[in-house]
Amino acid sequence: MERTFVMIKPDGVQRRLIGKVIERLEQSGLKIVAMKFLHVSKQLAEKHYEMHKGKPFYDGLIKYITSGPVVAMVVEGLNAIERVRMLVGATDPQKAAPGTIRGDYAQHIGRNIIHASDAKETAEKEIKLWFSENEIVDYSMADESWVYEK
Ligand code: RTP
Ligand code: MG
Repeated sequence: MERTFVMIKPDGVQRRLIGKVIERLEQSGLKIVAMKFLHVSKQLAEKHYEMHKGKPFYDGLIKYITSGPVVAMVVEGLNAIERVRMLVGATDPQKAAPGTIRGDYAQHIGRNIIHASDAKETAEKEIKLWFSENEIVDYSMADESWVYEK
């Protein structure tokens, strides 16, 4: 099964949306295999968003991500990377479809609630950056045969 990295950003935490966001991931049959609550250091934020260094929104983005605690997760499932990106919706909430997390809970591109890895390589890189091997939990769900035919 594929794994992806998901983070509920500081606005999601401050707006008390942790439960609602996690509910959407769980409802779809995805499985949480790691989770932590932390204040992101400038160093971690810069590493996580290094591909955006030099862009006009970069400084604001680092300030935003380090402005309050976040929920970091590793989520597992069939095509989890693409599935989660679909549940999350377009980067700009103004363009995100209703029914997506950003479409339903956000207004502005600079306050878009959630991050999710966008490709296989970034997922692997981000999972390694945010979690050590022993923080990722290997377990089965009781309803697995009802979620997947196999
Ligand atoms: P994310 O990395 O946070 O999951 O978001 P994403 O893939 O949908 O979008 P990305 O292009 O990677 O941008 C990262 C985050 O930077 C902020 N942003 N602001 N003001 C702007 O034009 C602008 N563009 C991007 C957003 O918070 C976006 O999620
Ligand atoms: Mg991105």
